[in-house]
Formats: sequence, C-alpha cells, structure tokens
Amino acid sequence: MNITITKNYSELSVKAAELFYKKIKAKPSIHLGLATGKTPLGMYEILRKKMKTDGLPTDKLKVFNLDEYVGLSKNSSKSFYTYMKKQLYEPLGLKERQYYIPNGEAKDLEKECLRYEQMIDQFGIDLQLLGVGRNGHIGFNEPGTPFDSLTHVVKLKESTRKVNASFFGDESLVPTRAITMGIQSILKAKEIVVIASGEEKARALYEFVHGKMTEEWPITALKNHSNVTVICDQKSARFLK
Ligand code: F6R
Repeated sequence: MNITITKNYSELSVKAAELFYKKIKAKPSIHLGLATGKTPLGMYEILRKKMKTDGLPTDKLKVFNLDEYVGLSKNSSKSFYTYMKKQLYEPLGLKERQYYIPNGEAKDLEKECLRYEQMIDQFGIDLQLLGVGRNGHIGFNEPGTPFDSLTHVVKLKESTRKVNASFFGDESLVPTRAITMGIQSILKAKEIVVIASGEEKARALYEFVHGKMTEEWPITALKNHSNVTVICDQKSARFLK
C-alpha cells in the first residue's frame, strides 16, 4: 500500500487529479471506476479543466460508477447520474456508450445488479477511485457486508442517510436503498486509489492501515489487493503515525 499524506484538501485534490490525468494520458482507452460524494469534487474540477486545456482525447475513455440510489429518477438533481453528468460526462464530452452507472429505476433490481456485474467483468476496470465513509464503507457497502459480495441492492444505514442529507436538504428525502458494486466487484479493479479528507475519516483510515481485516470495517477488504494507493490529508491521517 502506498500512502501520500497531503497538507490539506486542496493538495489532496491536486495530487489525485494528477494521478488520474497521468493514467488517462498514458492510456486514453482506460476504464475508470469512479465515486461520487464530496471528497472527489476538488479533483474532478482540476481534472476536467486540465484535460480540456491540454486537449486530452476522451473518445476512447470509459467510466463506471460505484453506485446509484434506488427509486430516484435518473434525471433528478440528486441522482449520482446527474452528479457525474455535471462533474465529468458533459465537461469531457463523453457519449452514452462511454459511461455506465447502475439503473436505480430498473423494474427488476436483481436483474439490473447482475447486468452491471457482468458488464464490469466484460470490460474490466483499470483504475478505481474510492472515497470512504466514516464507518469504513466503500461504495454503499456498509459494515457487515460480506467481502465476497457482488453488485447488490442495499438498505442504507441511518448514519449514511444523515451524512448524505446535505445533498438533499433533509434526511427524510434521502432514498432508503441503493444499488452498489459489491466489495468483490471493487476488488476486481487492477488498481485502486482511495481518497480521504477530514478528521471524521481518521478512524476508518486507521483501521485500514493498522487494523485487522474485518467485515465490520469494509475498507479493510482492500488489504487483500496488490495495488492500492491512499491519498489523504493530515486530518484524516492523524492516527496513522
Ligand atoms: C460514493 C460512494 C461513497 C462515498 C463515501 C464518502 O459513490 O460510494 O462510498 O465515497 O460515502 O463520501 P464523501 O466523499 O462525501 O465523504
């Protein structure tokens, strides 16, 4: 595991954007696995600006998302699809055939999970970006999720719905379920980059780096992966030394 500790969130965003920029430049047909949430916002802004300024080709790129809420219209301003459309799909001029995200409006959710997992297997993810929840969740894989889980429907924990309420204005508006890539699906990526910022992520990072592998801390599943980079700020790294 390779760990970079940055002074603050801005520096974290620059470092993470640089890493993704280099990988995309080296392999324009790269398959990226991406996350939503607050942490990647800074790096996405830097990445899309730099790619545009430098005229990096994007027509061969494919991006896959970790998760999507169930029961929210794809075009809702709160869907992860809309988040991604604003952050990267549109600014990078990606065509529909270049981006993939679970369909939270599917009539048959089990079938949708199967379809998404098969697609991950068919294309393969080269580089997966992950944020981490304060309880150690990755994707929407909450504590207790089996490490061999594939793409599945989850009932969101109250604590996660509380945190995500900032995007919805009110907790009661946060959907109760989501489709998420499972832990095993995430581990299939060739390379994984975890980004974390702020004191509230410090315990999860500590468990990841120094704790034992346990399903109570989903992020510890990554200990089994051979190519993981962590980019975190000083606040989230406070228990690491
Ligand atoms: C987002 C996702 C989540 C977030 C995590 C951290 O697609 O799957 O696991 O990465 O909840 O969220 P932030 O970055 O908002 O702290």
